[in-house]
Amino acid sequence: MFDALANIPWTWLLIRASGITAWGLLTAVVVWGILLRTRVLGRVASPQGLLVMHRWLSALALGFLFLHMGLLLIDPAVQFTPTQLLIPFTSTWQPFAVGLGTVALWMLIPVSVMGRLRSRLGKAGNAWFRRTHLIAYAAWPVATAHYVLAGTDAIAQWSVALLIAGTSLIVLALLARAFVPPAAPRRAATAAEKAPAVANAAAEAPAEPALVS
Ligand code: HEM
Repeated sequence: MFDALANIPWTWLLIRASGITAWGLLTAVVVWGILLRTRVLGRVASPQGLLVMHRWLSALALGFLFLHMGLLLIDPAVQFTPTQLLIPFTSTWQPFAVGLGTVALWMLIPVSVMGRLRSRLGKAGNAWFRRTHLIAYAAWPVATAHYVLAGTDAIAQWSVALLIAGTSLIVLALLARAFVPPAAPRRAATAAEKAPAVANAAAEAPAEPALVS
């Protein structure tokens, strides 16, 4: 096994490792985001704690995604151009499968931009933040299709197990979201008076994750 790995360029190995890490982190971001809208974890995790984790995971996911893409630029075998990375379906190598990755990337960018602009835009900023959040949630199935169609390792046993585990976690979080609703508005209002950060956590979560429908 190690002899076989020795013949593969290190960049190609890292492209795959960073892609899988980015996918795992994106899955965790979605799960944490959905859990923010439920009381299912009760006292185990406060909304504020969930929000902090959701933000950290998002930043990490983007970091690994940029690493995944950056390595494609320097990989000696595939030699992607910046245009092929940024414009969907323009790569010469598996254009459809790779293009889905680029589409997922562009679905993740608006929420990051709106996160920065939100406070400056007032009420409109909140509305746009929610909309862009829904687009970001919808990026998960697109990124997953990219993983399954482009991944060299996608059908390896461990990879299938990872895909099933990630998908199951999202389904479980959605079930919790459906059956264990968030705190009632009155209680949320009281909490807001005591701890504004908690209210922010509830406000940051999108009204309806796109994955629900
Ligand atoms: C949210 C966005 C993305 C995620 C989560 C993601 C994740 C992944 C994963 C998990 C793999 C499979 C690795 C393997 O099984 O070996 C993969 C492969 C790949 N990705 Fe991405 N990717 C994303 C975006 C992109 C973008 C924007 C590009 C470039 C345009 C790209 C190019 C590739 C290529 C060329 C492969 C094939 C590597 C291989 O043979 O495994 N990805 N990606």
